[in-house]
Amino acid sequence: MGGRSVFYFFLLLLLLIVVAVSAGEAEEEVVSVNKSTLGLWENNNYNNEDELDGGFPSLDGILHWAIGHSDPAKLQQQAQQHLSTQDDHILQKRQTEIKEVVEKLEEEMPSDSKLMQLAIHDLKNNNNNNLEDALHQLLILVEAIHNANNLHNMGGLSLVIAQLNNSDHTIRTTSAWVVGKAAQNNPLVQNQVLQLGALPKLMLMVKSSFIEEAIKALYAVSAVVRNNDKGIELFYSQGGDIMIQGILSNTTADVRLHRRLVSLIADLAEYQLVYNSNLELPFLNNCALVKVLFDLTTSDDLDLQEKVLLAVKNLLMLESTELLVLDGFCGLKGALERMRLQLQQLIREENDNEYAIDVDGLCKEVNLIYLEKLTKTRGLNNISVSQVPT
Ligand SMILES: *[C@@H]1O[C@H](CO)[C@@H](O)[C@H](O)[C@H]1NC(C)=O
Ligand SMILES: *[C@@H]1O[C@H](CO)[C@@H](O)[C@H](O)[C@H]1NC(C)=O
Ligand SMILES: *[C@@H]1O[C@H](CO)[C@@H](O)[C@H](O)[C@H]1NC(C)=O
Ligand SMILES: *[C@@H]1O[C@H](CO)[C@@H](O)[C@H](O)[C@H]1NC(C)=O
Repeated sequence: MGGRSVFYFFLLLLLLIVVAVSAGEAEEEVVSVNKSTLGLWENNNYNNEDELDGGFPSLDGILHWAIGHSDPAKLQQQAQQHLSTQDDHILQKRQTEIKEVVEKLEEEMPSDSKLMQLAIHDLKNNNNNNLEDALHQLLILVEAIHNANNLHNMGGLSLVIAQLNNSDHTIRTTSAWVVGKAAQNNPLVQNQVLQLGALPKLMLMVKSSFIEEAIKALYAVSAVVRNNDKGIELFYSQGGDIMIQGILSNTTADVRLHRRLVSLIADLAEYQLVYNSNLELPFLNNCALVKVLFDLTTSDDLDLQEKVLLAVKNLLMLESTELLVLDGFCGLKGALERMRLQLQQLIREENDNEYAIDVDGLCKEVNLIYLEKLTKTRGLNNISVSQVPT
């Protein structure tokens, strides 16, 4: 759902509530609803710990408005009054009112491109007081693919990218977020970002000591290189492999960075698998990387363990990892056994934690894939499935 449709949806919901419960006195109140009171761009509440792309700022704004402007006791009283007035005439009158209000709102609601223009105008003026708001507006708008596609034509993308250099880290963070959101699953924007030369800058930002900045920058890097030959090539030539290994082997780095990096490895391997890309990424068939991945599984973060297994699964399937497989895949067996002991303990302690059971299943699957590949690679059939750890 795009920013505007979410907006309309909640607006309609609110209108229905307000109109339905406040029979006689409703008209003025409803008509006086205007965009600034809705606090659409209120953005103090967008720090979502779990989601790397952070959730949806405007939704919070609207809900806060709705809660702040409702008086539950009064609403309930009016709802009861309403229920006792079974009057078709009043009902009809209300339906007409709703219709009129919606029509009026639709006339007044500026188009997306108008809103984009306004935000881009603020970026151009480069007034630090408005920048954060302008970037948040763009963040919502580029969620819709046609807006993301228009961003560069309207001059917005280079302005956002320029803000990656802002001295204020929160502005840099939001700018990276906008770039990532616009580029996500969007080859057109991916290539524009690459042409504007923003990838090296974003990669540098991943090393930021401001953790939110590092996370949003990595979100953007992943979005820009995903399934994009040129992006992957540039990422690699800029030392992306060294960056990945450096952060993965840093045990004190934020677990959210680790999760995202492991997913990036899985993506890179999958790209090579699915598109049979002739782009060779030697670091994917390198024990240094695989061992760092295994080391991460000693953490008790199940999400991270699952992501590591998915990445290892993809790496195992690459043709280029045959030699590693013949050599025991960097100690895969021991790593899986250790993980399974850890998971079994968790399953016992937490009354059949379903997530742990799933991850345990994934361990078995990875082991099977390994054994199959080993058999195939040796060209022999002397390995029986009974070797699967139980
Ligand atoms: C919208 O509401 C705000 C705050 O209540 C008020 O200051 C402003 O004048 C209103 N704007 C319009 C166009 O009614
Ligand atoms: C950021 O600043 C550096 C040095 O001042 C400059 O070389 C670079 O091109 C700038 N990057 C962007 C994206 O504006
Ligand atoms: C490891 O991560 C921590 C936390 O982000 C950071 O402070 C430290 O500089 C990192 N160490 C290295 C060697 O990068
Ligand atoms: C299976 O084949 C490998 C490679 O030729 C050989 O080293 C190993 O001894 C064989 N294993 C069994 C159980 O026959």
